[in-house]
Amino acid sequence: MLAMKILRVSGGRPLFGELVVSGSKNAALPILAATLLIRGTVELIGLPEIRDVSAMLHLLSLRGVRVEHLERGRYRLNAEEASPSSVAFPEDGGLRGSIYLLGAGLAAHRRSAVGLPGGCDFGERPHDLHCYALRAFGAKVLEREKGLYAEARSLVGGEIRLSYPSVGATVNAILAATLAKGRSVIYGAAREPHVMDLISFLNRSGARIKVLEQGTVAVSGVERLAPLSYRVMPDMIEAGSYLLMAAATRGEIHLRRAPEGQLSSLLPLLSESGCRVWEIGSDEIALEMRDRPKPISVTTEPYPGFPTDLHPQLSAYLALCLGESRIREMVFRDRFRYLMGLSAFGANVTREGREARIVGRERLFGARVTAPDLRAAAAYLTAAMAAEGESLILSAELLLRGYEAPLRKLRRLGAVISDADVECGALPQADRRAARGSE
Ligand code: EPZ
Repeated sequence: MLAMKILRVSGGRPLFGELVVSGSKNAALPILAATLLIRGTVELIGLPEIRDVSAMLHLLSLRGVRVEHLERGRYRLNAEEASPSSVAFPEDGGLRGSIYLLGAGLAAHRRSAVGLPGGCDFGERPHDLHCYALRAFGAKVLEREKGLYAEARSLVGGEIRLSYPSVGATVNAILAATLAKGRSVIYGAAREPHVMDLISFLNRSGARIKVLEQGTVAVSGVERLAPLSYRVMPDMIEAGSYLLMAAATRGEIHLRRAPEGQLSSLLPLLSESGCRVWEIGSDEIALEMRDRPKPISVTTEPYPGFPTDLHPQLSAYLALCLGESRIREMVFRDRFRYLMGLSAFGANVTREGREARIVGRERLFGARVTAPDLRAAAAYLTAAMAAEGESLILSAELLLRGYEAPLRKLRRLGAVISDADVECGALPQADRRAARGSE
């Protein structure tokens, strides 16, 4: 039975110090899937040591990819023995990023299957745009109870018009186009930095991919891709999460190896709320905050808009604001499950349609909460460190899906957090129910 991680946080301590940003989860996952397209050895550097990356490495090994863990963050992969797979593995369902294996397997072997992806549960996670994109290259894509199955005698380039700039569907379209015959143009593509990192990885391996004007990607198919060594870009969501934690605890943080120019939607908001924020050179960001934040309002949008993956953490920061703030969630309709847990800290947060309404309080108080998903866990940790008194955060293992060594990093900044891994069976009945999300 999987162990549950419980965090005990002693709040009211400002975070102070320096933190090195790890590699990007949402760049690592598509790049790992893309190794299926490459004949020969691929060395990846700066992969974040997080559970979603270990899970993706496992899914690749199930498909015959040889994986060597050289040292922290450095892996060598070889897909030469990987075979066409029409098996949808149940393990695929453990993370949303597994859906990239549908496009990668199709590009590499003209046949692929993937168990229906899981990932964070904030309502419907459709895959219609993925299926549309792959069918546009001439693939047959079957949607079955257990998974998605794709095959094609050959992949022929063409025009793909995405009705929504879906990150995942853009990744699958780029993977299929890379080895398809002829030229493809993808209109309405996602512009997230992690999609750009995938493009740069593939081009370094011999692909011919061009980003025309924003949101249009042109690909000339090639016969094969060459082995390479590549460093994954830093994680903008990790960086943003720690800036918000430092701001919520009224401390000071200095981020090193920060992603260059990717937080242009967050930094002005932090300044508007009263933080002192400054960028040093191309890869360092510093923040200092001494007071309660001024209220702000923001809408989450596809990049370069404010990222939905920072919505819960921003909400936790604004729970202490001097007035009323609003976050309009326009990417995931139901990304509000974090609100109940945030209220447990004494935050006055309510859902109004597609908005979170946050009426700032003077202080937050320690609480016992169960995290429903990865970014909610980050939000609860933010609130717990800003709150007075002690908090317990259950299902905190969700944090490890997307943050590398979060407790080590936060302890270095002065946070007082102890953690325990318990078998779910050992939990008091109430927490067991909570852990199963039946709350
Ligand atoms: C990726 O999810 C990220 N996951 C998410 O990060 C991130 O929140 C999201 O992009 C948006 O930036 C990974 O990279 C592994 P989408 P993805 O396809 O690809 C709709 C995190 O916390 N849609 O851009 O699933 C969908 O319902 C995770 O790190 C369709 O309608 O996001 C949603 O409303 C959470 N049909 C919107 O598009 C489709 O076929 C955005 O989805 C696909 C998506």
